Amino acid sequence: MPALALDPSGRGAASTAATASTAATAPAPAPAPTSLSPAIGAPLSGESADGLARRLAACTSCHGPQGRASPEGYLPRIAGKPAGYLYNQLRQFREGRRAVPVMTWMVDRLPDAYLLEMAQYFAEQHPPYPRPQTVTLDAATRERGRLLVTTGDASRSVPACTACHGTALLGAQPAIPGLLGLPQDYLNAQLGAWREGVRNAVAPDCMATIAKRLAPQDIAAITGWLASQPVPAGARAAAALPAAVLAAEMPLECGGLAP
Ligand code: HEC
Ligand code: HEC
Repeated sequence: MPALALDPSGRGAASTAATASTAATAPAPAPAPTSLSPAIGAPLSGESADGLARRLAACTSCHGPQGRASPEGYLPRIAGKPAGYLYNQLRQFREGRRAVPVMTWMVDRLPDAYLLEMAQYFAEQHPPYPRPQTVTLDAATRERGRLLVTTGDASRSVPACTACHGTALLGAQPAIPGLLGLPQDYLNAQLGAWREGVRNAVAPDCMATIAKRLAPQDIAAITGWLASQPVPAGARAAAALPAAVLAAEMPLECGGLAP
């Protein structure tokens, strides 16, 4: 993958201030799309690095500096997620297979090469993770959440989340995201969206299968437990898929994992 020639602390930051006054450590309330129009919708052919920096500044106005987001609110952190995962998401938004109008609008007219550049940029950002969310769960629910994540539920054919997301839950290159450092509301919404068919991954969509097998009360236990886990300093996605996945012993087949 070609390296992205862009200094995020230079032009990108300056451009953030110039084009998106809402940039702040906490995610801003979603601005009306038209307020970002100077940063997007510019011609693509021959666009300069500065043009890309302006587009990235539009992203960080919602996703926070470097895409770090915060555990409050709803917006997901995009910093440090595997590039292949981010790229898959941007394509799903563009094609409306992940139905979030504001994100579809952001990437609507952008070609694959451009989406890949943005994915690579955010994948290379590693700002510190915020403190975990304080989630009020009774002890039994918390333990149920931990068990589901680490061992699954054989009675419902739900595999352990760690089987694919890794024992550290930090995800794996090229396209499995980590599950830590995300707001509980966001995690709930994703599992709900898969159940309802408004989030689709590259087929076969293993996450849709898993989300539909989960009991509704178990979703809150899982997401509450996940959102309250601390993220170790220097956390990174694993360099390769988990061994079981590589050995074709994956509990379910997932699409989109080829580099
Ligand atoms: C107006 C606010 C807003 C702007 C601007 C914005 N996003 Fe988003 N983005 C969202 C929201 C809200 C979600 C969560 C969608 C959901 O519920 O599935 C999201 C989700 C995402 C995701 C999926 C994250 C994951 O973990 O699956 C990616 C990737 C992403 N955005 C990238 C970008 C990029 C790149 C840009 C700039 C081109 C951008 N966003 C601009 C609001 C925004
Ligand atoms: C068989 C492998 C596999 C297993 C097991 C698995 N996942 Fe996933 N998960 C994936 C893949 C692949 C993706 C990326 C999907 C995409 O591209 O949209 C993903 C994405 C996700 C996301 C989206 C993250 C984001 O940033 O939007 C959530 C949430 C999630 N998984 C939760 C879970 C939970 C909870 C479990 C356990 C109950 C679990 N997963 C088990 C493979 C798996």
